[in-house]
Amino acid sequence: MILPALIVLVVGVVYYLVRLKYHYWKKLGVIGPKPKFLVGNLGGCFLLKTSPGELYTNIYNEYRHTSIVGLYRAFTPILLVRDPELIKEVTIKSFSHFRDNDIDIDQKVDPMFGKNPFSLKGDEWKVVRAQLTPCFTSGKMKGLYPYLEENSAQLVRFVQSRPEATNGNGYEAKELATRFTLNNVGDCVFGIKAKCFEEENSEFRRLARDFLSPGSWPIFIFFVATILPAVTKIFPIRFVTKNIEKKITDIVTETLKYREENNIVRNDFLQILSQLKKTSKEYDFTDIDVTAHAAGFFGDGYETSSVVMSFILYQLSANPEAQSKLREEVNKVFEENGNKLPYEILQALPYLDAVVNETLRINPPAYSLQKRCTEAFTYTPSETNRSVVIEKDTPIILPLFGLQNDPEYFESPESFRPERFIGDNKEKIMKCTFLPFGEGPRACLGQRFGLLQIKVGLSYIVKNFELSVNNKTKLPLKYDPTNILITPIGGLWIDFKKIT
Ligand code: HEM
Repeated sequence: MILPALIVLVVGVVYYLVRLKYHYWKKLGVIGPKPKFLVGNLGGCFLLKTSPGELYTNIYNEYRHTSIVGLYRAFTPILLVRDPELIKEVTIKSFSHFRDNDIDIDQKVDPMFGKNPFSLKGDEWKVVRAQLTPCFTSGKMKGLYPYLEENSAQLVRFVQSRPEATNGNGYEAKELATRFTLNNVGDCVFGIKAKCFEEENSEFRRLARDFLSPGSWPIFIFFVATILPAVTKIFPIRFVTKNIEKKITDIVTETLKYREENNIVRNDFLQILSQLKKTSKEYDFTDIDVTAHAAGFFGDGYETSSVVMSFILYQLSANPEAQSKLREEVNKVFEENGNKLPYEILQALPYLDAVVNETLRINPPAYSLQKRCTEAFTYTPSETNRSVVIEKDTPIILPLFGLQNDPEYFESPESFRPERFIGDNKEKIMKCTFLPFGEGPRACLGQRFGLLQIKVGLSYIVKNFELSVNNKTKLPLKYDPTNILITPIGGLWIDFKKIT
């Protein structure tokens, strides 16, 4: 008799305490959808029906007249920011109050991902970010450019050699773009040939499959870390598996040894990282740091860029007018420069830049950014005029997909109009409504490299092929709910017609 009564009492107390937690935002006068017992507002994500990013986008669209929306990730209160002015505070003006990303990786358990600037916190992040920033100067990019051009020419030869790409059966754009960006990181990070065009299953392609492809273990862990960071805090889990860590460590060690023994100096990221090991004074830069950052540049370097590139190929296929205009711009440069695409000229092509930006607006690779409040911050929403203290440790969601596809900031947001990013139109875009690379001191470190490889590969493709959407592409596009990066279900299939 006592036991059932005790169980009822415990359940009752737990229920009461959880319900009490769900009053947090109401007490502060912040509105939001009603949370469900235990799962809060992320029930759909726990059931793998929707990705957290898609859910945040829906909430962004639902709460149109609100600057901030109070949500619960299980029991944890999290804040979704709709107001671009507050996003500016979070990312730029009051950065010291929000300097960390909302992710917990234990460096001792997972040195590879734990040392990535994305996971680092506080002063350690600041030191490492400053150390790595010189890897991405314009001068360094120019030094890497010949590798990217060579791989772009190879990309064209590869498409030409694949009957399915040109005979109406279509080739999947993400698969194609991944082969290209993997070859680039092979050359530019490790100084080795990744052979992703020559071999169906090269070592690099296999490594990439185990690393960041949908359904892989790291992607699953990243998903868990996003919806339930508490779990990764209590049970520290590896994002980079031991197997992948070993393979990358072997590549780095063998390459450095070979270079040292043969007196080879190469213009790539590994060279810069090994140089940092010799010159870094204020912070011990060890062999593990060299390998961890090479691993970081590997993962960061190919995956996001190939997602973006595949969406650009799709958008150009679906928008033939924009495709012709881009081809005209690119062909002129090739014609005027002896069939070459000089680095400086490529950087200054306005329509190419606009095509890339417009795709990044409609199809950013990430739906949202997750920040963490590191020092309490007071904000007064204009609609209530009631000050809200955002407490330290509160997770902050920046719903970039929602903002970039909001008709309030971009007229007819569903239409592909590169002209939005040209001349005066570009100047008119409201700050912090377009942030595919994030904003402020913590914005993407590899933006220059990502954009460069996308632009050169794309230019070679449009010069050589007319693109159209193959009917294997499932329209309207729907996205994989378990992947953190936006991944179209069934892929993006493109037909390539050789221009003679
Ligand atoms: C078009 C391709 C890319 C896109 C759209 C992209 C997007 C992003 C975004 C949204 C963030 C988070 C920013 C924030 O928290 O505010 C980020 C961070 C980062 N990205 Fe990229 N990225 C791209 C390519 C790359 C490449 C090629 C590299 C390196 C080779 C790279 C390295 C990083 C690093 C290290 C961070 C963490 C920065 C920090 O926290 O200090 N990314 N990226």
